[in-house]
Amino acid sequence: MTRIRVGGGAAGDPAGDGAYDVVVGHDLVDRLPGLLPGAQRVLVLRAAAVGELAAAISESLRGTGFEVHEHELPDAEAAKTVEVLDQCWGVLGRASFTRTDAVVAVGGGAVTDLAGFVAATWLRGVRVIQVPTTLLAMVDAAVGGKTGINTAEGKNLVGAFHPPAGVLCDLPVLRTLPHPDLVAGLAEVVKAGFIADPRILELIEADPGAALDPAGDVLRELVERAVAVKARVVTEDLRESSLREILNYGHTLAHAIEQVEGYTWRHGDAVAIGMLYAAELGRLAGRTPAPLVARHRSVIEAVGLPRRYAPAADPERWQDLMRAMGRDKKTRGSTLRFVVLDDLARPGRLVGPDPELLAAARSAICG
Ligand SMILES: NC(=O)c1ccc[n+]([C@@H]2O[C@H](COP(=O)([O-])OP(=O)(O)OC[C@H]3O[C@@H](n4cnc5c(N)ncnc54)[C@H](O)[C@@H]3O)[C@@H](O)[C@H]2O)c1
Ligand SMILES: [Zn+2]
Repeated sequence: MTRIRVGGGAAGDPAGDGAYDVVVGHDLVDRLPGLLPGAQRVLVLRAAAVGELAAAISESLRGTGFEVHEHELPDAEAAKTVEVLDQCWGVLGRASFTRTDAVVAVGGGAVTDLAGFVAATWLRGVRVIQVPTTLLAMVDAAVGGKTGINTAEGKNLVGAFHPPAGVLCDLPVLRTLPHPDLVAGLAEVVKAGFIADPRILELIEADPGAALDPAGDVLRELVERAVAVKARVVTEDLRESSLREILNYGHTLAHAIEQVEGYTWRHGDAVAIGMLYAAELGRLAGRTPAPLVARHRSVIEAVGLPRRYAPAADPERWQDLMRAMGRDKKTRGSTLRFVVLDDLARPGRLVGPDPELLAAARSAICG
């Protein structure tokens, strides 16, 4: 079991208020009650796919004297709606949840986003414990405090910053995760490797199969390292705002692909394409060394992430993607911003690249 601290000790947070631990390991359910001192009632919000873990959590909480309420959420993005939010508020209201009570999320990133937003908004904020059950949610969605829902106008447009009181990454739950979801989650792990922790890449390159074995030690170490990268960036960001932007590596194009494909693509698959593109863009801009671009291709291929997005070759589709990138939440004004690598683990910014350069870098994903 490993404990990774997020927040605390930064200039804006000298006392460590708002700091929390991400615990990575096996059979962590019985640690949950200890994370909620002073709470009387707990609402467990769960994905249907992880009913067994959610039941074990409820039982553990009940066994230690909590009044436990449970609510199953619609699958995946269907959980992140204002209607579901309203249902959750209804459960909390009927059960008379107070400021000292808490929410526990058991599911993928959709559940941790929704549950975090429920907790952020009830009585202007109650504690939430995140128990992520997908690889993506463990290394990304459940860590860092961003919560939110979708609206008819777009994804994640409504939300709040609400750091959890704790995060438990109980690795055995990944055994039931469909293989394509495990692979997609690995894209964020690979991203953490390129922007900050080369050891992640070495571990994957040494044995890509082991990286995808949910029962193995390699995946455990990868989760710990990827969480540590996000924890470091998020903690530092409290001091130096905008550092967090490096977590967006590969995401400028990825978000555009997700949008023009009507969110039929897995996020991690789009991020893999986005990283290949950003690497080539960095090379063409005279920033990213060619061997590092080649390493992107080999690592992404080794774990079975997609390497091609042929539609980008179509001029009309490319215009759609450019427009979508311009509308991205992270765009400032109308200037496109990319994270590029000046070297391995040396991320930098590329602001407002020429349209010709942007078009030329497509060769990396549709050549
Ligand atoms: N807040 C953040 O910082 C942040 C960061 C990245 C992504 N996100 C959000 O995360 C969401 C995507 O998360 P995701 O990829 O985890 O998808 P998801 O939550 O939609 O889960 C994918 C599918 O796997 C199922 N599932 C979950 N755990 C399982 C398990 N252990 N075994 C079997 N099935 C399981 C789910 O029920 C769902 O059908 C998006 O809404 C995205 O916006 C948020
Ligand atoms: Zn991402």
